[in-house]
Amino acid sequence: MSESAKNNFMVKPETEKAIDELLNRYPIKEAALLPALHKVQDDFGWLPVEAMDWVADRLELPHARVYGVTSFYTMFRREKLGRHRLEICTNLSCSLMGAEHLREYLCNKLNIKPGQTTADGRITLLEAECLGSCGTAPVMLVDDEFFENLDPDKVDQILKDLEAKDNG
Ligand code: FES
Repeated sequence: MSESAKNNFMVKPETEKAIDELLNRYPIKEAALLPALHKVQDDFGWLPVEAMDWVADRLELPHARVYGVTSFYTMFRREKLGRHRLEICTNLSCSLMGAEHLREYLCNKLNIKPGQTTADGRITLLEAECLGSCGTAPVMLVDDEFFENLDPDKVDQILKDLEAKDNG
């Protein structure tokens, strides 16, 4: 692990090396900001403030600039997620095919709102922009697995499978 000069946050050595390579590739350090944030997020699953500060220091950018970018782009996670991530698409095609009803169904089953994590830390529910499969709407990403043509029964099965996975 390597240590930032300005805080004690650590990234994996290979992540630091990859960011150094990015910095060599771009004449302006800020051009490496988005890929650098992705790499650090991949290490931790989210971006705690210390991680954003580390990236800012490494790229010699104001911390506020990095906070602004991570709050603007929804692909950056500024809060720790549950063990499992449900990302339900609520864009137009999915909405027309019942995604909002499914979102409410999930909220009631999990007793959380979109953006929240269940009290046991198991599941985070997120809303996603178009996931590129409008023809099989409504769709949802469960961790990195894709589920299509969803209905409440399929959602129930997904939740059961996650439970079995966690207990197995
Ligand atoms: S609108 Fe949901 S996949 Fe395109």
